[in-house]
Amino acid sequence: MRFVEIIEKKRNGLTLNESEIKYFVDAVVNETVPDYQISSFLMAVYFKGMDADETALLTKYMMYSGEVVDLSAIEGIKVDKHSTGGVGDKTTLALTAMVAACGAKVAKMSGRGLGHTGGTLDKLESIKNFECYISNEQFSKQVNEIGLAVIGQSLNMVPADKKLYALRDVTATVDSIPLIASSIMSKKLASGSDAILLDVKYGEGAFMHDVESAEQLANAMIAIGKKLNKNIKAVVSNMNQPLGNTIGNALEVKEAIETLQGKGPQDFKELCVELGSIMLLQSNVASSKEEAVDMLENAIASGSALQKLKQLVDWQKGDVACIENPEVLPKSKYVVAIKTQKTGYVHDLKALELGVLAMKLGAGRQTKEESIDHSVGIVLNKKVGDFVEQDQLLAEIHTNSELSEEWLKQFYSCFIIEDAYISKPKLIEKIIE
Ligand code: URA
Repeated sequence: MRFVEIIEKKRNGLTLNESEIKYFVDAVVNETVPDYQISSFLMAVYFKGMDADETALLTKYMMYSGEVVDLSAIEGIKVDKHSTGGVGDKTTLALTAMVAACGAKVAKMSGRGLGHTGGTLDKLESIKNFECYISNEQFSKQVNEIGLAVIGQSLNMVPADKKLYALRDVTATVDSIPLIASSIMSKKLASGSDAILLDVKYGEGAFMHDVESAEQLANAMIAIGKKLNKNIKAVVSNMNQPLGNTIGNALEVKEAIETLQGKGPQDFKELCVELGSIMLLQSNVASSKEEAVDMLENAIASGSALQKLKQLVDWQKGDVACIENPEVLPKSKYVVAIKTQKTGYVHDLKALELGVLAMKLGAGRQTKEESIDHSVGIVLNKKVGDFVEQDQLLAEIHTNSELSEEWLKQFYSCFIIEDAYISKPKLIEKIIE
């Protein structure tokens, strides 16, 4: 087989067979073809697409290009969830504890943040001494005993994706549904869980900007999961404004703790209960949606979900004092109060721009190599649909340096305030099974 023939076939819009797809992934991993040929192939996929069988095969060979985690030492159904990323998305921190407190087994592998989106590992590392990397044996033991572990993905997983993503990033081929779906799913499948719930975000702060394309991506990933025999479901949720009230690592951990104490923001809790109820059904822990919702509400009310988070932190050697007293989490030098300049209803709260502004404070990284400042970030006092009066508190900025005029100007431009009434936006657009 010659690589140029595979490029040509895809360029002409034809369907690749299994041996051609395997040949492609092998060539990527073994570096037997130059980057310009791989890039040409990616561009052909960008324009001509891939059908469900091709996408599933691509995912399968990408998944097997590196380590595939064996979770068979963990008893019962292992359930995982994946978010396609957003601003203020601290869902894993609260949701996994809620679900595990109800009896599900959550063996979660998470990532770091890049650009305007945050990452669970960075958030967890705001907790003093928290260990994100533990051995596979320890991982299985922890999930067996307490039902929950949240760790970093092993560096040996899915090398094909690392190579392909780096090329897609510089060849304008990132936003192709089969390429995104195979990239995400190869990593999820290599993490070894039996059941997967996808939280596919749409909106200004998300990868997919509208509901339709988020739904297309969700359907493509569900098709892959089904073809590879996983119990897979998806939720399409709104990421036009940040989730919850906080953006920034320690601030988000604090908000997740408050949510488990029953004091969290309504939108964040709603998402956790919705996702959690599906995960309990996927795990056969609950037999109806109503039962699952009751179990999750009880886990918050009884304090068992908060205790589960404490157990997780304890098992992964973090400072459990922060669970009882989040004030011990890293704190910034300054907290700057931002007041409204206008009276009216908040019509828009630009998630992407707020994510970038939080990154500029030091809460995120522009390149993979940068370090982050866990203490800084943004606390929003008003969200879309809220009424604000001039001089009311709009937000608090947690920062270790003085805010520039330019930063403040950009911050104010994230809030669109109008006279007309507007209702709170719908958070969960669709559940796809
Ligand atoms: N996230 C991934 O892991 N891969 C993509 O291609 C896009 C988002």
